[in-house]
Amino acid sequence: MRILLMISIISMSVIALSFVAKTNAGLPHIPEDSLAEDRLKYMNQVLESIKGKEGWKADSVFKNLKVITGKITAKHFLLMMNYGWSTELGVSCSYCHDVRNWESDSIEAKNIARGMWNMRQQINGEILPKITGKDYWTNPKVTCITCHRKKPKPDAP
Ligand code: HEC
Ligand code: HEC
Repeated sequence: MRILLMISIISMSVIALSFVAKTNAGLPHIPEDSLAEDRLKYMNQVLESIKGKEGWKADSVFKNLKVITGKITAKHFLLMMNYGWSTELGVSCSYCHDVRNWESDSIEAKNIARGMWNMRQQINGEILPKITGKDYWTNPKVTCITCHRKKPKPDAP
């Protein structure tokens, strides 16, 4: 009986780990923090609520996207919310969201994040190429963590 329990615990951990490894694919590796579990719980809740539409374009699945448009799929969008923005700022989803109403803009940080995204796109797409002549979609680029270092407000100099 005890052996059976051990085997099922081990196999469940392997499944959980492979899930994390798979969903994290293609994003920069940033060490997890104590909020990782909370973020994963919310991401999985949203994934569950859009079942069957994960591969659709994000702006055709979600209701209130103003800056993240184009080819990105709903699943990729959620990976970015979790392993990108939240992890890079060291926060959970509730820092920017009313988690019972994802499309709501009631928290100011959410709207600031839209401006931050536009700034990032402008830095990589226009400002850096003018300075160095390089293409920052293929070279290391500025992302949230460049400034935030896992804090919602970057350190003062
Ligand atoms: C730093 C702020 C920030 C954090 C943290 C964050 N989000 Fe977001 N989220 C946004 C912004 C901004 C938008 C809207 C993007 C746009 O306008 O294109 C958004 C949009 C969404 C939407 C689409 C809602 C709709 O129908 O319009 C979902 C779902 C979502 N986020 C889920 C999450 C989840 C899950 C997490 C945590 C794993 C998370 N977000 C963490 C800022 C954040
Ligand atoms: C070039 C540096 C830089 C980059 C890149 C950057 N930020 Fe910021 N961010 C800042 C600074 C500086 C502040 C503080 C502004 C203030 O307090 O007046 C800030 C503040 C914020 C805040 C408000 C925090 C609060 O509670 O007051 C959010 C949310 C935020 N950034 C999200 C993001 C996201 C998401 C990204 C990536 C898409 C990002 N930032 C990329 C520099 C940056």
